[in-house]
Amino acid sequence: MRYLTFALGKGRLARQTLGLFEKIGITCEEMKDKDSRKLIFTNEELKLKFFLAKGPDVPTYVEYGAADIGVAGEDTILEEGRKVHEVLDLGYGKCRMCVCGYKEAKRDLSSHELIRVATKYPNIAKDYFYNTKHQTVEIIKLNGSIELAPIVGLSEVIVDIVETGSTLKENGLEILEEVCPLSARMIVNPVSMRMESERIRELLRKLRTQVS
Ligand code: PRP
Repeated sequence: MRYLTFALGKGRLARQTLGLFEKIGITCEEMKDKDSRKLIFTNEELKLKFFLAKGPDVPTYVEYGAADIGVAGEDTILEEGRKVHEVLDLGYGKCRMCVCGYKEAKRDLSSHELIRVATKYPNIAKDYFYNTKHQTVEIIKLNGSIELAPIVGLSEVIVDIVETGSTLKENGLEILEEVCPLSARMIVNPVSMRMESERIRELLRKLRTQVS
């Protein structure tokens, strides 16, 4: 039997995913060692391998078949637009993709002004403004701390993830429009889906008993 390889987005999502896997009898003790700099972990008994990657890289590993299965946020899956099968909503990592800014920017949105939009998600932002709202905007790609952009005058609004809303609140910003709800998703390489369909189907069947 060959190894099935999983790419997991680093951080909180990975911890929740490993917790979920434990519930269906898939464990990887090696991975729990926080001090380890090891990149890839093996469960010999079940013939599984796991590695942690930056969230946005997970769909890339899965598209190219370097991982058979991936777990990533819907935000990165949408943004990357990779050729992968999305097979399961894992139900955690729930948040929303929103257009945010100062209250005053609402006017710019409703009057379709040519505004600047700062975001870590240029494809999602482009799709929302051009295809859903039919509003021409200038999109500025940033890599983090997106909420800074309207504060320092880089952009009128941002497109970003809102989870608890506390980052916005603490900075005097608010949600102006909602783009879409998000959660953690499982994705599968299309070839793996065919070649390993029995093992993957069994995994999905077990996971479905745990996620509602
Ligand atoms: C994300 C997101 C918001 C924040 C939202 O940033 O970009 O800044 O979390 O969460 P909240 O609604 O619960 O406050 P993250 O912490 O991932 O870091 P980043 O700024 O580097 O993107």
